[in-house]
Amino acid sequence: MELPFAESWKIKMVEPIRKSTREERERWMKEAHYNVFQLKAEQVYIDCITDSGTGAMSDRQWAAMMMGDESYAGASSFFRLKDTITRLTGFTYVIPTHQGRAAENVLFSYLVKAGDIVPGNSHFDTTKGHIESRKAIALDCTIDEAKDTQLEIPFKGNVDPKKLEKALAEHADKIPFIIVTITNNTAGGQPVSMQNLREVRAIADKYNKRVVFDSARFAENAYFIKTREEGYADKTIKEITKEMFSLADGMTMSAKKDGIVNMGGFIATRWEDWYEGAKCYCIPFEGYLTYGGMNGRDMDALAVGLDENTEFDNLETRIKQVEYLAKRLDEFGIPYQRPAGGHAIFVDASKILTHVPKEQFPAQTLTVELYLEAGIRGCEIGYILADRDPVTRENRFGGLDLLRLAIPRRVYTNNHMDVIAVALKNVYDRREQITKGVKIVWEAELMRHFTVQLEPVK
Ligand code: F0G
Repeated sequence: MELPFAESWKIKMVEPIRKSTREERERWMKEAHYNVFQLKAEQVYIDCITDSGTGAMSDRQWAAMMMGDESYAGASSFFRLKDTITRLTGFTYVIPTHQGRAAENVLFSYLVKAGDIVPGNSHFDTTKGHIESRKAIALDCTIDEAKDTQLEIPFKGNVDPKKLEKALAEHADKIPFIIVTITNNTAGGQPVSMQNLREVRAIADKYNKRVVFDSARFAENAYFIKTREEGYADKTIKEITKEMFSLADGMTMSAKKDGIVNMGGFIATRWEDWYEGAKCYCIPFEGYLTYGGMNGRDMDALAVGLDENTEFDNLETRIKQVEYLAKRLDEFGIPYQRPAGGHAIFVDASKILTHVPKEQFPAQTLTVELYLEAGIRGCEIGYILADRDPVTRENRFGGLDLLRLAIPRRVYTNNHMDVIAVALKNVYDRREQITKGVKIVWEAELMRHFTVQLEPVK
């Protein structure tokens, strides 16, 4: 008999978690204004709000922390991190930042100005925020197939080369660079193929433009290339990683995802002019160039994390857990963005809460229902997160309305996945009775989802 699959690690330290009663959760949800970001973590049983900064570090990472060099300038921790990044990506210039959006802030301060257009594949909300706050436009060139959640194609995160080429043909003078997010978080943790990265490179070269990868989940992207794209089965994750980045000019990185640290990020590039330009913004915003918002010990933990998470076994364990949850949802017929993504399952709320009008935010309503059902915290990647159109100030209902269940790395077991699946099934079974959603009582102008206050529609 073939041996079953099991995790490529064993557990050395645990953290207790606690269940609550439905009455408690109803009270807490009301106090949180029906916004799960406003809940206290201790009010949550299984936390799938994000896979960002919530992973479990390895014994090697914790050991590396003891070697942290906390010198203000020239810390050896920085050079260990820089050498690892250069070895993995080929980029020789590295600027550490305190997290991914800080890398965006520093690099975009140098590169993006009012009136610019930055084409890409479903820019993440902070990426879009950093572009729009500079009065520039984040132009989404994702393939149309990404919007059909039931369509099963291997690289649903891809850039549509035709849309990209059109943008460049029409607005080349306004485009400072192209940004490709690997994996495409907003489209459902969906990967981008090497073939597509090559096509983007060719278009960029034709118009003499540079390409940035938003690389938060680059290792998961490499895993999907290895397992889904022809010609890559025998390549190592590190070889694939190197090849991916050979097609870019630079990267912004939220190290809180595939770096498996709790806080951290960086910019890396092969171009001296970008480094020189960005470094002027790093110092006032983030700190001196050899720490940029990170402790020495954190840079050491990140160097080890990047190395570990570009090994196949670690990634296989992770992706198989996400697939396991997907299979359980399949058993119950619950629709989600197919195929299962790298870091999360994106449940298609608009196909479940069909009686809740879009103006009452179905995915947010489902997020609230799942929390009330079992204390499971997902988050809305939908109409609230989409913010208002910066020009018309209308809600943007053009995209998908999803409940994201992000799975922290190396944290939960498949028993937890079973609890999530059954809790969602219980909500799914009473979907016909859910006819009213939520309304906005207060919202911020940008990135409103973190602080929005909601009320159930009566
Ligand atoms: N880019 C992508 C693709 C992301 O998913 C994120 C963060 C960022 C950039 C910003 O990085 O949080 O370190 O500042 N995504 C988190 C999430 C918050 O839950 O998906 P950050």
